Amino acid sequence: MKKVIIIGATSGIGRELASLYATQNYLVGVSGRRNELLLSLQNEFPKNIVTECFDVTGKENIVHLQSLIEKLNGLDILIYNSGYGDISKALDWEIEKHTIDVNVNGFIEIVCYGFNYLSNQGHGQLACISSIASKRGSSHAPAYAASKAFASNYMEGLYLKAKRMNNNIFITDIQPGFVDTNQAKGDGKFWVAPVKKAAAQIFTAISKKKKRAYITRKWWIIAWLLKWMPSFIYKRFG
Ligand SMILES: NC(=O)c1ccc[n+]([C@@H]2O[C@H](COP(=O)([O-])OP(=O)(O)OC[C@H]3O[C@@H](n4cnc5c(N)ncnc54)[C@H](OP(=O)(O)O)[C@@H]3O)[C@@H](O)[C@H]2O)c1
Repeated sequence: MKKVIIIGATSGIGRELASLYATQNYLVGVSGRRNELLLSLQNEFPKNIVTECFDVTGKENIVHLQSLIEKLNGLDILIYNSGYGDISKALDWEIEKHTIDVNVNGFIEIVCYGFNYLSNQGHGQLACISSIASKRGSSHAPAYAASKAFASNYMEGLYLKAKRMNNNIFITDIQPGFVDTNQAKGDGKFWVAPVKKAAAQIFTAISKKKKRAYITRKWWIIAWLLKWMPSFIYKRFG
């Protein structure tokens, strides 16, 4: 049985992805802060799911990650899905700081350990759920957009590193547009994908070992527009 760990699988995309992997007969290690939701997931798939309850802003991320790897007795795929973001109209420091703690500090600690672990064993895959928000700065949620730019840029760095090391590690950066979860905040939402559809496309992208995937697929158009849009247009809504 292949072994996958999903950091942040209590709700939304992560939970749906965990169910998909379990249905496909993977052994799945799941984490999050809400233990009752982890246990309910385990109840659904008692033979496939192991749990570890922890907050990625804490000081023991690696201890918990190692514990999950032990419970699974190995690791093939590590997915960093935990994420936080909120509209920060008044540039609220609490929002800005918490966003960076989850999306940058927790992310880099876990992904860095994961890369070295997989590299030492000589095979594996590392994926991260970033966002289309990584493409440009945002006046509405500055820390969120910047944190996702950090994550996507870091994943590209690891992709290049894996190529240089020729170490058989695959790196996948997932960039969703809007998905119908609590994280889809703000006005003017469009092309909001159902969670099941988003998770299915993420599962396929990871299985195909894609370097980058937009979720749903048509969001490549928005990614392209954001990349090339001149500032004098982008400043009207960015
Ligand atoms: N929904 C969208 O429109 C959208 C678009 C682009 C990207 N994304 C990204 O997709 C990912 C999943 O989000 P979602 O939409 O599925 O929202 P969600 O339902 O709120 O899921 C967020 C997950 O992250 C975990 N998490 C949050 N803070 C954490 C912390 N301090 N420690 C450990 N885990 C933590 C949550 O678990 P606990 O609360 O139990 O800790 C939960 O499992 C996020 O990275 C998000 O930025 C979402």
